[in-house]
Amino acid sequence: MPVITCIDDLKRLHKRRTPKMFYDYAESGSWTEQTFRENTSDFEKIRLRQRVAVDMSNRTLASKMIGQDVAMPVALAPVGLTGMQRADGEIKAARAAEAFGVPFTLSTMSICSIEDVAEHTSRPFWFQLYTMKDQDYLRRLIQRAKDAKCSALVITLDLQILGQRHKDLKNGLSAPPKLTPAVMADLATKWTWGLEMLATKRRSFGNIVGHAQGVTDPSSLFSWTAEQFDPQLDWKKIEEIKELWGGKVILKGILDPEDAKMAAKVGCDAILVSNHGGRQLDGAISTIRALDPILQAVGGEVEVHLDSGIRSGQDVLKALAMGASGTFIGRSFIYGLGANGEDGVRSALEIIAKEMDISMALCGKRDINEVDRDCLQIPEGFSGQWQG
Ligand SMILES: Cc1cc2nc3c(=O)[nH]c(=O)nc-3n(C[C@H](O)[C@H](O)[C@H](O)COP(=O)(O)O)c2cc1C
Repeated sequence: MPVITCIDDLKRLHKRRTPKMFYDYAESGSWTEQTFRENTSDFEKIRLRQRVAVDMSNRTLASKMIGQDVAMPVALAPVGLTGMQRADGEIKAARAAEAFGVPFTLSTMSICSIEDVAEHTSRPFWFQLYTMKDQDYLRRLIQRAKDAKCSALVITLDLQILGQRHKDLKNGLSAPPKLTPAVMADLATKWTWGLEMLATKRRSFGNIVGHAQGVTDPSSLFSWTAEQFDPQLDWKKIEEIKELWGGKVILKGILDPEDAKMAAKVGCDAILVSNHGGRQLDGAISTIRALDPILQAVGGEVEVHLDSGIRSGQDVLKALAMGASGTFIGRSFIYGLGANGEDGVRSALEIIAKEMDISMALCGKRDINEVDRDCLQIPEGFSGQWQG
């Protein structure tokens, strides 16, 4: 067994053990991938401030996100096709999150259905909603999440139309994969993945196939999605969905202070500062740069969470010290899942927790809720030099 020390180790194993089509799907940004790259490189520009001769005993990472107790303020982000990175991937990731004590968010575009995940977990998870034109399907989807006792609805706002990721087109991405000669040759070297996939029935979009009208055959799904995502989504519709749901709401995909103000006005429990991991608007700023103006715009009215680019506990610490009250990880847990299934997701969470704990201690803090800008050295103009 290789020694795993960091998220990058998991990423290397993920690449080795997962079909190229699905590794590439996770490891892509849109078009030139500038935003995808800057999400991580901008974290590196911020430095942590080392302090000495302070009591480092009795440390804690425990916190709250939207009023819910969490072992550390790091939730698993919704990731479509998680069950293609590893058989039953959503169930495995949800179980690892539950055991660790952090929230798991199930994507609308998951392979395992809402009911599948509910059946295999014992604590409520969060459900991410893409807004669809088919109102009847949308209402039933929300009702299914309610019936499964999901404890928050994460409404994604930055994907009314799909950003282009070149590799998906070149690889002919589909779920399940079409068995072309190139795919067969690739699968011959990924036999654990293949055997596990043969042993499960969950190989297509569990929340959609058999639930949405006109989608019984998964091969029609990509065209259905392209047709179904609602390009006319606006704040009024968001309010309507919020009312239909009637529970806790996180608005995901906010990157601009003006939109953050609108989100706070519409009312939500948290906004999630996100650029979809650099998969949508290529050329948009990184989330860690976007955070400060957004915090100032909402002025403590709602919780502000952040994702996109987090690959370590140091990154989480930086986001929290900048002022976010929670974070989400996407690829960092997907690397773990692809590397080692449920154990791999647990490894990813343990790595991040350990890095966060030790970094916090070396910054002279003992409680994650006490970290603040004193822990950081931020280059001048990092957040504020943009016009417009
Ligand atoms: C492969 C992949 C699939 C994703 N699918 C969804 C999705 O179905 N719904 C959604 O709201 N966000 C989706 N996202 C975005 C994530 O929720 C999250 O915003 C992003 O992964 C954060 O960036 P990070 O991967 O750098 O942590 C996806 C991200 C990836 C990498």
